[in-house]
Amino acid sequence: MRNMEKLKFIDLFCGIGGFRTAMDEACLENDIVPECVFSSDIDNFCQDSYEANFGERPFGDITKIDEKDIPDHDILFAGFPCQSFSIIGKMKGFDDVRGTLFFDIARILKHKKPKAFVLENVKQLFGHDGGNTLKTIVNVLEKELGYSVRFAVLNALDYGLPQKRERIIIVGHKEPILFNFPSPVRPFKPLSEILEKKVDAKHFASEYILEKRKNKHKSAYNLSIWHENKSGNICSYPYSCALRSGASYNYLLVNGERRLTPREMFRLQGFPDDYKIVVSDGQAKRQAGNAVPVNLVKAVILKLLPYVAASMDMTTVLRDYEVGYGE
Ligand SMILES: C[S@@+](CC[C@H](N)C(=O)[O-])C[C@H]1O[C@@H](n2cnc3c(N)ncnc32)[C@H](O)[C@@H]1O
Repeated sequence: MRNMEKLKFIDLFCGIGGFRTAMDEACLENDIVPECVFSSDIDNFCQDSYEANFGERPFGDITKIDEKDIPDHDILFAGFPCQSFSIIGKMKGFDDVRGTLFFDIARILKHKKPKAFVLENVKQLFGHDGGNTLKTIVNVLEKELGYSVRFAVLNALDYGLPQKRERIIIVGHKEPILFNFPSPVRPFKPLSEILEKKVDAKHFASEYILEKRKNKHKSAYNLSIWHENKSGNICSYPYSCALRSGASYNYLLVNGERRLTPREMFRLQGFPDDYKIVVSDGQAKRQAGNAVPVNLVKAVILKLLPYVAASMDMTTVLRDYEVGYGE
């Protein structure tokens, strides 16, 4: 940042730092100095990965952290777990959502009043409980906390990654801004840039299974990810379906021959190759499956940064952007 002021943010439900990686990259491209002033994740293995890569260990359970103990910040990021919205739809407002992890985001926003926030969740939040869950969330953010809110379902495939991963992104700003979500950009990266050249034998299927699969399916692509469902039906694409943290990722197979390596999964989520993978293969798959696609949220952050910079009088940053304020 040319005037040396730092753009402070917090990283809630930080996992392995998908938001932080995106924020760091977006700020670097715009000559802004980002500073993460607080991070939290309850999972020890995520904390290990985060600490190895960002040099600080996230705090644990957010429900146990008093909002008054969280440092002031300009932007709040949170990719909250989807389990937490299953009961929100029946609730009416801020006091009602108590006991859900969304409430923890809301109470921090209420107390700290950052200039902006970006929340991420699975696409299913959109239609959950006939739309009531999202309605309650937006209602709390807009009516009770006073933010100007926009939301959209975005697909990682549209932001350069060969992974079909749809996510709902909710963006809020303290002033009413004319925020537009980033336009889709294709093509996505070819699989040749994702797949490793040397892969350990442990990732390959046995000759017997390989034979069976190859007899069942012929791919139209040179490099493809095969998607095998539980009943054994196979289809293949030049991209991956959404990585999952549970068992289903086993059914994503490179050219029908082997499972994805941890590095390939991290690449499919947009993490750079200097991101250190310090956990077991099993944990790495879980972490990649839970992460937010870096390129997707980076595209969103790049759209939001000028507004946040404007409210901090970072006029040099604004020069390159169009910034519009609502009525
Ligand atoms: C969907 S993942 C978010 C992943 C993250 N955006 C990333 O890029 O890796 C949700 C995260 O919330 C964490 N979590 C769940 N309950 C929590 C709690 N009570 N306090 C803090 N973190 C929690 C989980 O451990 C998980 O890593």
